[in-house]
Amino acid sequence: MKRLSLLLAVALGLATAVSARPTVIECWFVEDAGGGKLAKKPAALLLRQGAESPPLRPDLAPERYLKIHDPAGALQAAFRQYPRDAPAPRCEMSLYVPLPASAKWLSGLTPEQSCPRALDGTWLMVSMSSPFLSLSSLLRPQSEPQPEPALITMATAVLTVFTHTPTPRIPMGQDALLDLSFAYVPLTPKAPSLAPGPPPFGLEWRRQHLGKGHLLLAVTPGLNGQVPAAREGAVAFAAWDDDEPWGPWTGNGTFWLPAVRPSQEGTYLATVHLPYLQGQITLELAVLKPPKVALTPAPLVWAAPGEAPPELLCLVSHFYPSHGLEVEWELRGGPEGRLQKAEGQRWLSALRHHSDGSLSLSAHLQLPPVTSEQHGARYACRVHHPSLSALGRSAEVTLQVAGLSGPSLEDGIGLFLSAFLLLGLLKALGWAENRVKPLSTILGKPPSSPVATVITPQ
Ligand SMILES: *[C@@H]1O[C@H](CO)[C@@H](O)[C@H](O)[C@H]1NC(C)=O
Repeated sequence: MKRLSLLLAVALGLATAVSARPTVIECWFVEDAGGGKLAKKPAALLLRQGAESPPLRPDLAPERYLKIHDPAGALQAAFRQYPRDAPAPRCEMSLYVPLPASAKWLSGLTPEQSCPRALDGTWLMVSMSSPFLSLSSLLRPQSEPQPEPALITMATAVLTVFTHTPTPRIPMGQDALLDLSFAYVPLTPKAPSLAPGPPPFGLEWRRQHLGKGHLLLAVTPGLNGQVPAAREGAVAFAAWDDDEPWGPWTGNGTFWLPAVRPSQEGTYLATVHLPYLQGQITLELAVLKPPKVALTPAPLVWAAPGEAPPELLCLVSHFYPSHGLEVEWELRGGPEGRLQKAEGQRWLSALRHHSDGSLSLSAHLQLPPVTSEQHGARYACRVHHPSLSALGRSAEVTLQVAGLSGPSLEDGIGLFLSAFLLLGLLKALGWAENRVKPLSTILGKPPSSPVATVITPQ
């Protein structure tokens, strides 16, 4: 019984997960309009294969209203983790022309000299991007739209590549794991020329930097031949996950980069190569390091009434990137008792670059002259940075206005000794007079010291 209810719960969970996935993705069909211009036309992809008939879309040309046949379940898998309340991904579609890969290390994929006839005809490449998904799929539309009940064109997702981490933000020094899944449905299953089982494929990961691509990793599982050596310690899990004789097949091309540094930030291009077909997605890798925040002087800063305290220096160190760093000065528990912006002159030092790529700077605050009411006020520097939560990180110092705090330990000991000496002196002299001279005068202490200030009547 317990097991049954558990099963039921799982089934219900799956049902809600299914309904959470978007059914129709609005898209743009983009094509070259000549003269370096692009023309955009509305399109839509119907992803879910329900029993109900597709919604009527008289606003779309039938060849741009596509019902996706996805035998590998790749699009379903891609949207499985898609947050329910997140906006639909941006979607663009364009014509695709099957071509052999140009890189020499991929020549083993296409030993025959010409593209198989089975690949003739129209191909579409659809790209979707959102903070939760980056996906590319090569679609093979049927030549004629299906007439009934809604004018819609059936299209098979032949090669689909996607990641659930399109914008990985990796703490500096940690390993980056960039997930990549793909799926392939052969157009001519059980072709006599083909051996059963998933075909060889090529996987490459590159980083774009200043308009130039750097090949980080190239692998061709199932093929012999030389591939360029991996760089920067990059490793990929490149394999088909399942071994059906005639497909469809799903695969994993997850990429691993050890101990990332700021110099490894950028756009990563992952490409899965099959004969004459390439599926490519982009990811934006960001490296983050939260700042250390320290304030000097600390924990107290002293000033006499009417004088300005020494300059406060907030050291914001070893962070990355510089973009998005903000330093605020706050006054906590001042005369009005609440948190407010601290007054005073503020400035920032130039950025200092460390050999590991991280950065430091110092923020300075020169407070105006203080009054005795400000005694006990706390000043804080608060640092905001993309690596920190919205609250940021702060350090604080308490203002002590001289003459308002109780006597310090040294003053106390001094007072005790003075009293002791004075008593002895009085006794020795047998002095009976009632007038007591101020201690400060007897001991030669400056009248500005707290003890003297309290007693001196003049
Ligand atoms: C791909 O492989 C990596 C490493 O083994 C693993 O962590 C990840 O879960 C795999 N992805 C999928 C979709 O199976």
